[in-house]
Amino acid sequence: MCSSLYFLVLFVQLLCSQSRSQSVPVPQCDGADMSALLQFKNSFTVDRGFASRDPLAYPKTESWKLESAGNVSSSSCCSWEGVECDNSTGRIIALNLSSSCLYGSINSNSSLFRLVHLQRLNLADNHFNNSEIPSGVGLLSSLTHLNLSSSVFSGQIPTEISKLTKLVTLDLGCNGTSELCAGLLKLRSLGLTNLVQNLSNLQVLALDNVDLSSEVPVRVANLSSLTYLSLESCGLYGVFPASIFRLPKLEYVSLVSNGNLTGHLPEFNSTSPLQFLQLSTTSFSGELPDSLGDLQSLKFLNVERCNFSGSFPSSFSNLTELTYLSFRGNPFTAQRLDSLPWLWKLAKLDTLYIGQTNLQGKIPSSIGNLSHLVTLGLAGNELEGEIPPELVNLPRLAKLNLWDNQLSGHITSCLTNMTQISFLDLSSNYFDGPIPSSVSQLQNLQFLWLFGNLLSGIVELDTFLQMKRLQILQLSWNELSCLAGTKQNVTPPQLLLLGLGSCNLSEFPSFLKDQTQMGRI
Ligand SMILES: *[C@@H]1O[C@H](CO)[C@@H](O)[C@H](O)[C@H]1NC(C)=O
Ligand SMILES: *[C@@H]1O[C@H](CO)[C@@H](O)[C@H](O)[C@H]1NC(C)=O
Ligand SMILES: *[C@@H]1O[C@H](CO)[C@@H](O)[C@H](O)[C@H]1NC(C)=O
Ligand SMILES: *[C@@H]1O[C@H](CO)[C@@H](O)[C@H](O)[C@H]1NC(C)=O
Ligand SMILES: *[C@@H]1O[C@H](CO)[C@@H](O)[C@H](O)[C@H]1NC(C)=O
Ligand SMILES: *[C@@H]1O[C@H](CO)[C@@H](O)[C@H](O)[C@H]1NC(C)=O
Ligand SMILES: *[C@@H]1O[C@H](CO)[C@@H](O)[C@H](O)[C@H]1NC(C)=O
Ligand SMILES: *[C@@H]1O[C@H](CO)[C@@H](O)[C@H](O)[C@H]1NC(C)=O
Ligand SMILES: *[C@@H]1O[C@H](CO)[C@@H](O)[C@H](O)[C@H]1NC(C)=O
Ligand SMILES: *[C@@H]1O[C@H](CO)[C@@H](O)[C@H](O)[C@H]1NC(C)=O
Ligand SMILES: *[C@@H]1O[C@H](CO)[C@@H](O)[C@H](O)[C@H]1NC(C)=O
Ligand SMILES: *[C@@H]1O[C@H](CO)[C@@H](O)[C@H](O)[C@H]1NC(C)=O
Repeated sequence: MCSSLYFLVLFVQLLCSQSRSQSVPVPQCDGADMSALLQFKNSFTVDRGFASRDPLAYPKTESWKLESAGNVSSSSCCSWEGVECDNSTGRIIALNLSSSCLYGSINSNSSLFRLVHLQRLNLADNHFNNSEIPSGVGLLSSLTHLNLSSSVFSGQIPTEISKLTKLVTLDLGCNGTSELCAGLLKLRSLGLTNLVQNLSNLQVLALDNVDLSSEVPVRVANLSSLTYLSLESCGLYGVFPASIFRLPKLEYVSLVSNGNLTGHLPEFNSTSPLQFLQLSTTSFSGELPDSLGDLQSLKFLNVERCNFSGSFPSSFSNLTELTYLSFRGNPFTAQRLDSLPWLWKLAKLDTLYIGQTNLQGKIPSSIGNLSHLVTLGLAGNELEGEIPPELVNLPRLAKLNLWDNQLSGHITSCLTNMTQISFLDLSSNYFDGPIPSSVSQLQNLQFLWLFGNLLSGIVELDTFLQMKRLQILQLSWNELSCLAGTKQNVTPPQLLLLGLGSCNLSEFPSFLKDQTQMGRI
């Protein structure tokens, strides 16, 4: 009795709380804003066919409907997907239609530019059919966030964009290598100097793949709130102003693929919050400053294929947050890998590329300290001696590149114990001995490069035909005797490349007749 009363009370309470939450009014949206939205929607077709970057892309605008046809006041566009209103005025203040399969062009007459109360606009990852960014965007003077990235605009970025002086985030970049990203937008007439002059509140500036074809003005260093700067593949040249790296709030810098951009890294302040620094494929040069080692927050450092010289900074031992480190492809002075004790303290590293950096000596057993390593690249150095068991037994190692060194010894343990390995390149060394048949146990292996060693013994190709994921097998230029596959009781993997040069084959491998992907790389 008592308990049923209790439940009754609970039930009534539930009912009340439900009707309370229902009674929170969805703000009435402004009629003019709503009709502007509907016109905007109707100016595009929905096309799920183009290569959107987001596999979960779907047309948000399809849910935009009047509740009862003709009764404008009964609908609230404030509840439409991607739309946000000011709750007191009903004006639209944010529109997020990223990855919404919108296809079609847009011009300054677009009803979008009547939404003058917009503060945040995200049209990223749609397909605006190579139309220009309309100058009408300058009418949206309340904008703080503008994201038009990866949405197939082309032509000059309109000068009107520099009227948006409240902007905090500006992303006009295109991230990717597809033809949808092929350097379509240009900032030649406005120029970076004029852009950043007015937009002094910027925290985020991303112009990846925008054709800037300019120097980087020192004025960028006046953006004192800047946290994120991404200028990948922008055709930048000249000297990058080092003062930009010292901006006090800067966390993320990427200048990848600006081959004509030169510069030096400055001394860093230990208070710098820099987490991500990526300068690969630029012409940055000079020594890496010791003060890089003071950047307590640094997680990602990629300076590959630049022109840095000197030696690696030994101050790095304190960079315990570092997960990605690439120095590869720089003309550093010769150093011994077994005399870099700081390197083995970076216990969180999952990626380490130090190929083509003039490293000598042996691979030390301390490499076993890097127990999170997934990817290790040491190619194109002068390393010698054997592969230590500590390397072989790294529990997560999936990619190992030792190509073009002077390493020696047997590879049996690599081909047995590296259970996670998917990419293994041991080519152009002095490895000898047999290829064990246990290699067939490495079921994740996709790429196996062993050419140009002193490997010997008999190799039955059937061994490899059991490896479901194998795509590349390169055994040429060893001292092997290869026996053509005969068993045929397994379905062989479809290979992209098979190297059996100087392999003493006496019979044409019959499994080749079913290979259809060969040579597609
Ligand atoms: C329009 O919506 C309002 C408010 O919901 C309602 O009072 C009115 O009857 C509706 N008019 C028509 C023509 O449906
Ligand atoms: C408007 O009201 C909704 C529902 O109460 C709330 O979730 C939202 O944050 C409010 N928006 C603004 C901009 O205040
Ligand atoms: C925009 O919408 C997408 C989902 O479509 C969401 O992932 C993203 O966080 C939203 N962006 C903003 C700034 O609200
Ligand atoms: C896209 O652009 C092409 C070439 O300018 C044009 O023929 C086509 O009609 C445009 N499609 C849309 C939907 O605007
Ligand atoms: C914009 O609209 C006006 C009047 O409707 C028209 O004359 C003009 O051609 C339009 N401009 C563009 C670029 O469509
Ligand atoms: C712009 O939007 C896209 C898609 O929503 C997102 O991936 C990207 O991070 C956004 N850019 C910025 C600077 O937030
Ligand atoms: C800067 O903004 C003002 C309006 O706020 C505008 O008149 C001026 O043309 C802008 N400067 C540049 C370089 O675009
Ligand atoms: C670019 O896209 C890749 C994956 O497609 C992602 O890992 C990376 O973070 C993106 N970069 C930026 C600057 O958004
Ligand atoms: C560097 O500049 C030269 C000469 O202006 C130009 O031909 C080349 O394409 C530029 N390289 C890059 C990577 O931008
Ligand atoms: C480092 O930054 C702090 C705070 O931003 C500043 O007070 C200090 O002067 C800077 N030190 C140097 C050497 O620049
Ligand atoms: C690492 O940090 C400690 C404490 O902050 C400091 O005493 C030491 O000098 C630093 N080591 C290097 C190599 O910078
Ligand atoms: C390979 O793994 C086996 C079993 O886990 C172990 O006994 C052996 O020592 C390992 N080989 C090397 C070279 O570490």
